[in-house]
Amino acid sequence: MHNADAQQWLVTGANGNLGRRFIATVLGSTQDRICAVVRSDRAAKQLAAIELTTEQNARLDMAVLDYTDQPALLEAAQGCTRALHLVGILKATKSATYAEAHEASAGVMAKVCDETSVEHLTYLSILGSSAASSNACLASKGRAEEILLSATTPTCVLRVPMVLGEGDYASGALLRRAAQARSFAFRPASLEQPIYAGDVITAVGQAATLKYAGGLDLAGAESLSRRELLQRAAQSMGQTTSVVGLPIALGYALAAVMQTLLANPPLTTAMLGVLDHDDAIDPAPALQALQMPALCSVDTTLTKLLAANANV
Ligand SMILES: NC(=O)c1ccc[n+]([C@@H]2O[C@H](COP(=O)([O-])OP(=O)(O)OC[C@H]3O[C@@H](n4cnc5c(N)ncnc54)[C@H](OP(=O)(O)O)[C@@H]3O)[C@@H](O)[C@H]2O)c1
Repeated sequence: MHNADAQQWLVTGANGNLGRRFIATVLGSTQDRICAVVRSDRAAKQLAAIELTTEQNARLDMAVLDYTDQPALLEAAQGCTRALHLVGILKATKSATYAEAHEASAGVMAKVCDETSVEHLTYLSILGSSAASSNACLASKGRAEEILLSATTPTCVLRVPMVLGEGDYASGALLRRAAQARSFAFRPASLEQPIYAGDVITAVGQAATLKYAGGLDLAGAESLSRRELLQRAAQSMGQTTSVVGLPIALGYALAAVMQTLLANPPLTTAMLGVLDHDDAIDPAPALQALQMPALCSVDTTLTKLLAANANV
């Protein structure tokens, strides 16, 4: 079926959690085409594993390239009308810096959008990001936002906190910890405002449809402490968990030591700072700007995660 309103998307970082979800949703609910851009054959295999019908697959193109290779990205973007930039890292290492993953890729993306038929670009950033932040990750994301917002192409920056979606890593970790009778957490009073992955995908679609230009802070319907989130997750499984708090200073000390000793530490100080950020915003202005209905509640999100877990 040919649809005159069908769009053609350029999606970078397409093999990640949100990229794969975006591809399945858009190909399943519209007649749009997607050019999914990844940076390795391993990532391309992740895309090939998305469950799609033959007809949906025919609307999915793939390109393997380096996100800082402007001529290659320019070629992949030919004919695209909308773009979604999902490239990002929470943890930098000596071989994968924030500057390269965020700012360098943003610079190329902005130029490519400006030089092609792309009419709107959306960037997913992190709640709390700002070029002025003292946290290296949030500052780098903030600089990438500024680069993208200075493109001529209308650009929407969506700053979101922890995203929870069926089958993703963060959701699995939350459910596993909540299933234990006792769990440990750094600063359990830290505020979380998780947003359902499906709501993030809806927001991206609305931003593109409305050609929304500017930055928006979008978080879930409820802000609650990390302790309460773990307890609510346990409750949704018909269990209880007692959360034992660990001093955050211990976390920073451990992260600093690991950063010095290991090439790829499991935890870094910048990463811990992002995870420890207090998220408590009013999502209403963003919802109004994007003409979105109410967001999925924490309890409904947890129910969806559990149902998906049971089906694995
Ligand atoms: N999920 C969340 O909770 C959350 C919250 C706030 C903001 N966000 C933002 O939303 C975006 C998408 O999130 P996601 O959950 O889909 O992330 P994800 O699953 O971690 O995917 C990230 C993407 O970035 C690529 N990437 C990683 N390191 C890179 C590097 N050094 N250079 C270039 N590319 C690199 C990955 O490619 P490889 O597979 O090849 O490494 C992957 O395509 C990210 O920008 C993230 O900052 C996510």
